Amino acid sequence: MMTPNTTPLIVAENIQKFFPLPEGSGTFTVLQDVNLSIYPGEVVALLGRSGSGKSTLLRILAGLIPASAGRVLSSGKAIEGANPDVAMVFQSFALLPWATVQENVELGLKARGVPRAERTARALKAIDMVGLDGFESAYPKELSGGMQQRVGFARAFVMQPNVLFMDEPFSALDVLTAENLRGEIGMLWEQGNFPAKSVLIVTHNIEEAVLLADRVIVLGANPGHVRGEVVIDLPRPRERNAARFKTLVDYIYTVMTNPTAEVASPTSGVDAEKAHRFPPLPHVRAGGISGLLEMVVERGGKEDIPQLAHSLNLGADDLLPIIDAATLLGFAKVEAGDIIVTDVGHAFANADILSSKEIFRQQALLNAPLVKTIHQTLQEKESHEMRADFFLDILDEYYPDDEANRQFETAVDWGRYAELYEYDAAERWLSLSVVEKASN
Ligand SMILES: Nc1ncnc2c1ncn2[C@@H]1O[C@H](COP(=O)(O)OP(=O)(O)OP(=O)(O)O)[C@@H](O)[C@H]1O
Ligand SMILES: [Mg+2]
Repeated sequence: MMTPNTTPLIVAENIQKFFPLPEGSGTFTVLQDVNLSIYPGEVVALLGRSGSGKSTLLRILAGLIPASAGRVLSSGKAIEGANPDVAMVFQSFALLPWATVQENVELGLKARGVPRAERTARALKAIDMVGLDGFESAYPKELSGGMQQRVGFARAFVMQPNVLFMDEPFSALDVLTAENLRGEIGMLWEQGNFPAKSVLIVTHNIEEAVLLADRVIVLGANPGHVRGEVVIDLPRPRERNAARFKTLVDYIYTVMTNPTAEVASPTSGVDAEKAHRFPPLPHVRAGGISGLLEMVVERGGKEDIPQLAHSLNLGADDLLPIIDAATLLGFAKVEAGDIIVTDVGHAFANADILSSKEIFRQQALLNAPLVKTIHQTLQEKESHEMRADFFLDILDEYYPDDEANRQFETAVDWGRYAELYEYDAAERWLSLSVVEKASN
């Protein structure tokens, strides 16, 4: 395993990534000052919520896209263009549909000018390793999703890279197939004849990270940055039922639901100021928030988050935004891996429909600046109406196009639920709600 004296295989030095904003007014920061190293012999998991920049970081380390600032060292040398020490397994498999399994697997070797005989021998070995012996001449569309991803693995294995990169390699597969393939990959690693020295896997699945990794690097969002890392000090093969396994999963849940536990330096400059004017709303429907609160209140107002995820059959990526939204609105707080419903949250969950809307309205105006801004603007306009584009133009200064739209949609959903305003999606007009007009 890694020691301080070992030279890292890959080093990210102060990596930043900006994308231009659609309005041409400045940039959107996706990655801020990312530093990390991958050492020989380790499996590192990069864990972060959707949108925290995991795929972007992986692509930069693989040399598929350039960093806006900072540099990537591979085997001690700054990379320019594709990183030759890396092979990648993609979430979407990314196979060539018109090529056979064997042709897909040989592609990278061909590009490197490896002679035909050697190419064939290496491809056959890789195909064998992923259990696809006999499927060499099949086409991707003839294979199940799980088998297609096996081809994805073989195509990366055949390169014998220093570091194997995987971007959510199991998340497009159904649960059982994913579990199977994950187990096999884990076993290959444990047997010691893995066709790469190290592995960097991107995931938003906490259990997957704890099952596979020696270190879990936790990324924070807005902009993406390294918050810290958790060493997974579990023997292999790993036992999901081990107490230490559960402790580590619980601990990482706590870290991920508690943004104040941040380790990295705070954001600075213009971007940080901007981000604060309209802090991102988690994209969750108001109905989902009240559903979750009712459920936790039924269970005594406090519940272990991994347990909750398990009994709701939800992944972290689905559950955490709901918890975020409940926390943002002051309905819940997170402590030591538990969600705890606040007094306001109890009042909200136990109220009749009318009072619950009233409570939601009050909390949204207090805690969701975007909802408040929309409401205030509509109140101040004489007609109490406004075009959606007016707000989208404002949001475009803070978020990329897609995200601006999603922020707007979420604010519309919350505001409607709170009966603060109404939205005519066909005409793209917002108007103050009837209730609000009457009280104005
Ligand atoms: N080419 C691009 N232009 C503008 N914005 C981009 C571009 N690529 C990514 N982004 C933005 O960067 C942010 C991070 O995206 P990225 O795909 O790296 O996140 P992720 O952590 O991999 O998310 P997921 O878990 O959903 O895969 C997102 O807000 C995304 O909209
Ligand atoms: Mg991604």
